[in-house]
Amino acid sequence: MIVATLQEHSRLIIRHRESAGVSLVYLLSDIWIKPPEIMFGGGAAPILVLSQNTKRDAGKKVQLENVAAGKAIADVIRTCLGPQAMLKMLMDPMGGIVMTNDGNAILREITVQHPAGKSMIEIARTQDEEVGDGTTSVIVLAGEMLGVAEQFLAQQMHPTVIIRAYRQALEDAISLLQDNISIALDPNDRPKLLEVIKSCVGTKFIGRWSDLACTIALDAVHTVMLEENGRREIDIKRYAKVEKIPGGSIEESTVLRGVMLNKDVTHPKMRRYIENPRIVLLDCSLEYKKGESQTNIEILKESDFTRILQLEEEHIQKVCEEVIAMKPDVVFTEKGISDLAQHFLLKAGITAIRRVRKTDNNRIARACGATVVNRTEELREEDVGTGAGLFEIKKIGDEYFCFITECKNPKACTILLRGASKDVLNEIERNLQDALHVARNILVEPKLVPGGGAVEMAVAQILAEKSKLVQGVGQWPYRAVAEALEIIPRTLAQNCGTNTIRTLTALRAKHATGGDTWGINGETGELADMCTLGIWEPLSVKLQIYKTAVETAILLLRIDDIVSGSKKKDKEGGTKTAQPTEESMKE
Ligand SMILES: Nc1ncnc2c1ncn2[C@@H]1O[C@H](COP(=O)(O)OP(=O)(O)OP(=O)(O)O)[C@@H](O)[C@H]1O
Ligand SMILES: [Mg+2]
Repeated sequence: MIVATLQEHSRLIIRHRESAGVSLVYLLSDIWIKPPEIMFGGGAAPILVLSQNTKRDAGKKVQLENVAAGKAIADVIRTCLGPQAMLKMLMDPMGGIVMTNDGNAILREITVQHPAGKSMIEIARTQDEEVGDGTTSVIVLAGEMLGVAEQFLAQQMHPTVIIRAYRQALEDAISLLQDNISIALDPNDRPKLLEVIKSCVGTKFIGRWSDLACTIALDAVHTVMLEENGRREIDIKRYAKVEKIPGGSIEESTVLRGVMLNKDVTHPKMRRYIENPRIVLLDCSLEYKKGESQTNIEILKESDFTRILQLEEEHIQKVCEEVIAMKPDVVFTEKGISDLAQHFLLKAGITAIRRVRKTDNNRIARACGATVVNRTEELREEDVGTGAGLFEIKKIGDEYFCFITECKNPKACTILLRGASKDVLNEIERNLQDALHVARNILVEPKLVPGGGAVEMAVAQILAEKSKLVQGVGQWPYRAVAEALEIIPRTLAQNCGTNTIRTLTALRAKHATGGDTWGINGETGELADMCTLGIWEPLSVKLQIYKTAVETAILLLRIDDIVSGSKKKDKEGGTKTAQPTEESMKE
C-alpha cells in the first residue's frame, strides 16, 4: 500500500509499508502535484480527454437548456404567423435592410449562438427548400413541442420514453392527415386553386394585391409545367425567373408569355422590333479564337502577318455565313461577338445579342422552341426557334431590356415585378416564391387540408382520444403532442388580439360537437368555418411542418451532452458557445 502525504509545498513523502511493518520513506522534492479535477487512470499518468479550452455540459441541464433555446427562437417569430402578422425589420452587417414576415428570411438574418438554436434555424431552411411555405409554423410548432416536454423532464421521465411517444403520435398524426382529414382537389379547377394560393399569400405583404399575385403564381406554374409520359415536371427555380425593376406600381407586374433579359443589341443599327422572329441560340463565340495560353508566333515576312489577319477574318466570315445560312432574325450567344462579326450579321439584317447568361439562354430555348448549339457547323433547321411572336427591345426606367414574348407554347417564363423600392420588391419576391411553391405543391399533389388552425384542432382532438389507449407513462407525452398542436390556432388568435383562452375553449367545444373544419378567422379572431371562409393549405406543406417539427424536438431531446470548444486561445469564445443570452437570440 502506498500512502502519500503532502508536506510543505510540493514535497511528498511516500511511505511504502511492507507487511512486516517496516516502512521505507522516500523524500521526493520535485514531484508534480495533480490539479484536483484531473484523474489518475489506474494509478498511472493523468488522462486528458478534452482540451483545456472546451466546456462541457451534461445531463438534465443540457436538455432544459435546449428546450429553453428552442422556445426562445419560436418566440422571436411567433408574431409573424397568420394574416395579422407583424413584419420584422432586420439590418445586416453591411447595413442592408430586410423587411419581412417570412419565417425563414427572418431566421436567416439573425445570429444565434446556442447550438440548439442553430438547429432550429436550420429546420426553417429545410422547410423553405422542401415546400417553400410554412416556415413560421414549423418553428412555432417545434418550439411548442419542446416546451411541452419540459414538464416530463422535470418529473424525471427518461427522454427515450418521451421520444417514443412523440414518434408514435407523429405517425398517427400523419396517417390521420393523409387518410381522414385531407380532401382531394381537381387540378383543373382554377377558382379553387386560386383560393388555395390566396390563403397562402393572404398572410403576406403582397396580400393586398392577392388577386394579382395568385394569377401570376398560377400562370407561371402552368407555363413551366411539363408533362411527359405521365411524369409531371415543375421546375420553378430554373424556368420561372423573377425580374425586379424598381419603379412603376405593383399593379404593373405581370407574367410574360415568354422571357425577358437585361440586355441590349450589340450594334445600334440592328433591328429592335421584329415580329415572328427566327431565333438562333449559340454558346460559342463569334470571335477569332485566341490561343489557350500564351502563344508566340514567329513570322519571317511582312506578308505573313497580313496573311494571319486575313485568316482571322476568313474564319469569322465562315462562322457568320454558317449562321446567316439559317436565315435567323435574332442571334443570341453566351460568348462574345467581334466587331467584324457584327458587321457581317448587320449586313444580313440579323440582330445579335451577346454575353447572355447560360440560364437565360436555356429559358429562351424553352420559350421559343430553339436548341442551344455549340458549333455553328452543326446548325440545322430544327435548332431554329420559331415559337416566339415578338422580339422587342424596350427601355424601362433607365435600362434597356430585351423581350421575347407572345410565344405560342412557352415552357419558361419571366415574372416581371414592379414596385416602389428595392426593399418592397425583395419582399414581394419572397411572397411570390411562397405562392409559386404552393401552386406547384398542389399541382404535384392535389390534396388540401383546412387552414386557420382547423386541421391542428381536429388532429389534436383525435390524438387526445387515442392517447387513452396508449399503454404506460408514454400516454402523457403522447397527449402533450396533441396539446402542442393547439399552438397554431392559439397563436393565430393571439396575433388578432383576442382572448385566447376563451376562443380556444370555444373552438375545442366546436370540434367536440363535430365542427371539424372550424378554425380561427385570422382577420377578426372569431371562430369560422374554413370551408366557407375558403382558407386551405396544401397537404404536403402541412405534412412537412408536422414531420420537421416533431423530428427536431426528438433530436434536441435526445441530446444529453454539449461539448463546445473553440480553437481560439481566448477563454471568452470557449465558454460563450454554450451560454446563450436572451438578447443574443433576439438580435
Ligand atoms: N385568413 C386566414 N384566417 C385564418 N388563418 C389563416 C388565414 N390565412 C392564413 N391562415 C393560417 O396562417 C398560417 C400561415 O401563416 P403564415 O403564412 O404567416 O406562416 P407560414 O406559412 O407558416 O410561414 P411562411 O409563410 O412565413 O413561410 C396557416 O396556418 C394558415 O392556415
Ligand atoms: Mg405562408
